Amino acid sequence: MSFDFNIRQESFGATLLSLSDGKRKYLTKDELKNIIYHEEYPIDMGITSSKKVKYTKLKANERLLNHLSFADIIYIELTRKCNLHCKHCLNDSGNQLEDELSFDEQIKLIKDMAKCGAGEIRFTGGEPLMNPNIYDLISTADSLGIYTSIITNGTLISKGIANKLREAGLKKAYISIDGLEEKNDKIRGALSYKNALIAISNLQSSSIDVEVCAVLMNNNQEDIINLYKKLSKDKIHLTVKDLIERNRAENLIDAKINNTDYALFLDRINYFDTNYFHIYKEEDPRHEQIFKKAIGFRINHRKLYFSANGDIYLNEVSSVSTPPFGNSKEMEDYRDFWNEIYKQNYLKKIRENIIA
Ligand SMILES: C[S@@+](CC[C@H](N)C(=O)[O-])C[C@H]1O[C@@H](n2cnc3c(N)ncnc32)[C@H](O)[C@@H]1O
Ligand code: SF4
Repeated sequence: MSFDFNIRQESFGATLLSLSDGKRKYLTKDELKNIIYHEEYPIDMGITSSKKVKYTKLKANERLLNHLSFADIIYIELTRKCNLHCKHCLNDSGNQLEDELSFDEQIKLIKDMAKCGAGEIRFTGGEPLMNPNIYDLISTADSLGIYTSIITNGTLISKGIANKLREAGLKKAYISIDGLEEKNDKIRGALSYKNALIAISNLQSSSIDVEVCAVLMNNNQEDIINLYKKLSKDKIHLTVKDLIERNRAENLIDAKINNTDYALFLDRINYFDTNYFHIYKEEDPRHEQIFKKAIGFRINHRKLYFSANGDIYLNEVSSVSTPPFGNSKEMEDYRDFWNEIYKQNYLKKIRENIIA
């Protein structure tokens, strides 16, 4: 028997997923009761017959472990190729991997993610613009109703490229800058600062949202504060990430900021108007109210991360610190992703491997 909809019980109520278009609705416990006892379905899901709905009831402990059914933000590395060679690069980018996904496999992955109900695909790398198919990949995701963004070093975004990205449907670009010109270029290479600023201006002219991302280290704290002052004048948001000591970053001596200095850094930032300053955590600040009520543990780890060869991880950090829990080439159908997340205790793994 084939179903058109899948309802999975969760600790907050349930997730209702349309298996045809990936439309997803989070239900409260009362809404779930209405379905079970009165066969009253949310009007906007277009459910006309309960025969088309599969209801998965979980035991209480399973509900707690799997209380969010699928990731909202999907990171896809478009290649490991990169035109820069940053000193701190966490995934050692530069050369293309031998077994990177083909264009067709990338398109299939995007379509599968859409069916699973992904809200956003964030293309990363390597440098995503080193993949000449980036426009087709963005427009495929965009045409499936997915919000698209890129993480980029910004050095390749001319006016023409910014226009092409906009035409493909790109909504947002995260530009990586790690200090003012001198410090940034020491980490990221000559001219990378100037070119990243040109990219910001070109993207803004093409009506693509821009946010800057910086990696905070021991020797760039002052620079990050000055970068923040500069960007906030232009109402540009800055997100600061902590250094992940993996791959090339493992070779940096004394680069990781200690807890005391980190607290002092935050104190200093708090003196300013901090509307444009954000600290990146492995959290999604856009979770809906319903998730705030979910109990038991941190609730907003709703990501999946695909490296350039299709290996699947829970997020960016785990992509360089834990084994993959599968490979997209082995997942024939989008339901495999959905089921795998469930089978492998997706959130339980995060708790044990990342938070602990
Ligand atoms: C690996 S890069 C790929 C995208 C693109 N090439 C760029 O640099 O924006 C993705 C993000 O990871 C950040 N990053 C690189 N090395 C890092 C490290 N060791 N710790 C934390 N973030 C890092 C980059 O600054 C960038 O924002
Ligand atoms: S951080 Fe980004 S730009 Fe720098 S080497 Fe890594 S992938 Fe390339």
